Amino acid sequence: MNDKSIGIFDSGIGGLTVVREVTNLLPDEKLVYFGDTARVPYGSKSPRVVREFALQDALFLSTKNIKAMIIACNTASAEALELLQKEFDIPVIGVIKPGASAAANVTKNGKIGVIGTYGTIASGAYKTELLAVNSSLEVISVACPLLVPLVEEGWESKEVTREILREYLSPLIDKNIDTLILGCTHYPILKQLIREVAGDEVALIDSAEASAAELERILNDKGLGAAKGDSSIEHEYYVSDFPFKFKETAERFLGEKLPEVELIPLDLLESLLKKTT
Ligand code: DGL
Repeated sequence: MNDKSIGIFDSGIGGLTVVREVTNLLPDEKLVYFGDTARVPYGSKSPRVVREFALQDALFLSTKNIKAMIIACNTASAEALELLQKEFDIPVIGVIKPGASAAANVTKNGKIGVIGTYGTIASGAYKTELLAVNSSLEVISVACPLLVPLVEEGWESKEVTREILREYLSPLIDKNIDTLILGCTHYPILKQLIREVAGDEVALIDSAEASAAELERILNDKGLGAAKGDSSIEHEYYVSDFPFKFKETAERFLGEKLPEVELIPLDLLESLLKKTT
């Protein structure tokens, strides 16, 4: 048993989809969340910049007595997983591999669609992981940069969002995919609409859900799980800008009240990186 926390970071608010899955699956674990709201989005930034930000985010979480870390952001998982696994001596989980493994297990016709940010799709990380599981899979990837702002505006059931989804998903549907990876933190919020547009016969793979299951497996393997039944757990939330806005949107995302969200200024994050170099 281990009463240390699980660190989770994201470029902003989207990583709360991972928080939701982890708290559903592992209600006894205390979470420490960091959202880099000052520098979001990561999805349109270069790999070098995303790696540098991800390292700062992870260094911050590593000051919070954590026993494992999840990179909730798909873009940061695509660019920085290896680096962070090398830097830290606790388990570091990215969302790409669990999502890819789940999709490879589910597909029947071997045709898998992947949607994500520009950065995630350009990295080819999902495709690489899928082909590592089964080299005969056909992977069709589409970047969907308009979806993150639509979700952040709360437009997940608007007609305009359905139209945009139709546009993005049509090349995947034309290729007859039977499985679609939601390769971005925000897309689980659009699950219902995506299901309507893609059709019931397409299996939707939620990388957040698959990553929570991977965390559970690792904690069990390493004997790191928290003691059961501690009802006094209070998760901690930190952001690099606009804590009030984060709190408000996060409460809408999670459907529950959050404790105070603390501001971590960028110069503090940057100084953590300087200390290591
Ligand atoms: N969290 C990012 C991801 O999952 C989406 C938002 C962003 O571009 O930073 O890729």
